[in-house]
Amino acid sequence: MRLKDKVAIVTGGGIGIGRAISYAFASEGAAVVLAARTLSRLNEVAEDIKSGGGKAKAIQTDISDEKQVQHMIAQTLNEYGQVDILVNNSGITGPTANVVDMDLNEWNEVLAVNLTGAMLCAREVLKTMIVRKSGSIINIGSEGGRSGYPLRSPYCVSKMGIIGLTETLAIEVGEYNIRVNCISPAAVRGERITNRLKARAKAMDISYDEAMNRLTSNYSLKRIAEPSEVATAAVFLASDEASAITGHTLVVNCGMHIVH
Ligand SMILES: NC(=O)c1ccc[n+]([C@@H]2O[C@H](COP(=O)([O-])OP(=O)(O)OC[C@H]3O[C@@H](n4cnc5c(N)ncnc54)[C@H](OP(=O)(O)O)[C@@H]3O)[C@@H](O)[C@H]2O)c1
Repeated sequence: MRLKDKVAIVTGGGIGIGRAISYAFASEGAAVVLAARTLSRLNEVAEDIKSGGGKAKAIQTDISDEKQVQHMIAQTLNEYGQVDILVNNSGITGPTANVVDMDLNEWNEVLAVNLTGAMLCAREVLKTMIVRKSGSIINIGSEGGRSGYPLRSPYCVSKMGIIGLTETLAIEVGEYNIRVNCISPAAVRGERITNRLKARAKAMDISYDEAMNRLTSNYSLKRIAEPSEVATAAVFLASDEASAITGHTLVVNCGMHIVH
């Protein structure tokens, strides 16, 4: 077991990629704290992990709210006494629109959750990780944040910011034996990609199938990734196998940028 006796917080752990990471961490021996707004979904995963003999706790948290993040970390410390791993996975898709048509509230909301929320969670766990001189933070970025992304500017900007946060934090806290890395997935199977492709198809006046074909034609493997394939990357980065890796962005993209 690669994460035995570790305590991990996974934001957005009740669904999608976060759920896959939570299960993978639990199966590697970690106690998992699942944090997001919809408590029922978090409880479902936590109960499932516990019924399989693992340790898990669901804590309702809006990560864009500073006080709720502080409360979530305090509750984690109260329950388990330490935090070894933080996965900043929570994220929202935001609007599909050109900048010229951008609604300011929608722009602000995406940055508040995807970027400021990740910073707040990192800031609060670092206070305890620095004292213990140990920790691993994994930020879930996106291939949509490694180059310009038409119609998705707030998402793109927030995920570019995640890479900046990763690299900055890695430099700031390396001396305390804390590693900070990013995983950058391209499209991953699940509700989010289905909804996103529907929105894109509508905005571009093409069919859903055409939108999916255009997407996967840009991937060397000609398919999108499974949530479990992001989870295995997270287990690796969280584990001692990655003990010399920090400030890195690991792409999990089915060969997206190497197709010509
Ligand atoms: N799926 C993809 O194709 C893909 C590709 C590249 C990158 N990513 C990134 O991977 C991460 C997970 O994606 P996913 O597809 O698994 O997402 P998802 O299924 O849409 O789940 C998003 C999660 O974020 C949580 N969340 C949203 N707003 C929140 C808030 N204010 N406070 C706390 N939690 C909040 C949601 O829970 P509540 O709504 O209950 O709060 C949910 O658990 C995201 O950061 C996403 O940008 C996904």
